[in-house]
Amino acid sequence: MKELILVKLGGSIITDKSKPFTVRHDVLENLGREIHDSRREKDMMLIVGHGGGSFPHTSANEYQVQRGIINERSWEGFAKVQNDAAKLNRIVVDTLLRVGELPVSIQPSSSCIARNSRIVSWYTDPITKLLDNGMLPVPYGDVALDTEQGCCIVSTEEILGYLAKELNGSRIIMVGKVDGVLDQEGKLIQKITPENFEEIKSCLNPSDAVDVTGGMMLKVERMLELAKFGVDSIIINGLKPGYLKRVLVGEDVQGTTITI
Ligand SMILES: Nc1ncnc2c1ncn2[C@@H]1O[C@H](COP(=O)(O)OP(=O)(O)OP(=O)(O)O)[C@@H](O)[C@H]1O
Ligand SMILES: [Mg+2]
Repeated sequence: MKELILVKLGGSIITDKSKPFTVRHDVLENLGREIHDSRREKDMMLIVGHGGGSFPHTSANEYQVQRGIINERSWEGFAKVQNDAAKLNRIVVDTLLRVGELPVSIQPSSSCIARNSRIVSWYTDPITKLLDNGMLPVPYGDVALDTEQGCCIVSTEEILGYLAKELNGSRIIMVGKVDGVLDQEGKLIQKITPENFEEIKSCLNPSDAVDVTGGMMLKVERMLELAKFGVDSIIINGLKPGYLKRVLVGEDVQGTTITI
């Protein structure tokens, strides 16, 4: 069996989170090329998810969709946020296609059911079949129907965590614009485990931008949960040339590893 690796292209790096609907095309294309180069060097199965950045976070914040169906405007918010998330997904898929990959958009809002923002069911057979055929599934942070709240946002962390467990992923690579998790002095924390989590928790702030799903804190919490199931994660800086490719082919790069 080939190794299954899951990558998150953070909304913080592929968009400019300070300006609504701004893609960083050059960064996205470079990351796409690194993914494609790594696939030529190493035979592996890959899922490349991405966050919403300045696309859905703005409308999600306006309608507070992450809190569920809370007023008469909520369903309108649900429709708008799914459209904003899908717009960025089309751009990511288009870029991956251009660099030579065979990407296929996976829309969580039409295939998942969540409960309090955690995915409880998802028909994943199409994803398995796509992987078997060497294709590249591209899911993304999206709205979802929620059995408790009516609706919710499923973060890319939640999506990749669910898929890693369901499809036996070996590791998750989180690509952002910071070197990893930094401590109060701005120094890189190389490893986070259940043992040092309490100690470093106070360094984890939500995000430097609008982020309805909890920024760095949520990321680390979800990845620690996953580490207990044997799936390790690493947070790396995608602005450092070659880092994504190196980590994909199995080389060591600087970043924060989340493990048990
Ligand atoms: N201790 C920390 N070390 C590093 N970054 C931190 C820390 N605490 C908070 N952050 C912020 O968290 C951000 C990462 O979370 P954020 O959710 O904004 O990014 P993302 O997940 O890439 O975006 P998206 O959710 O749109 O995909 C970093 O860019 C940084 O601004
Ligand atoms: Mg985030």
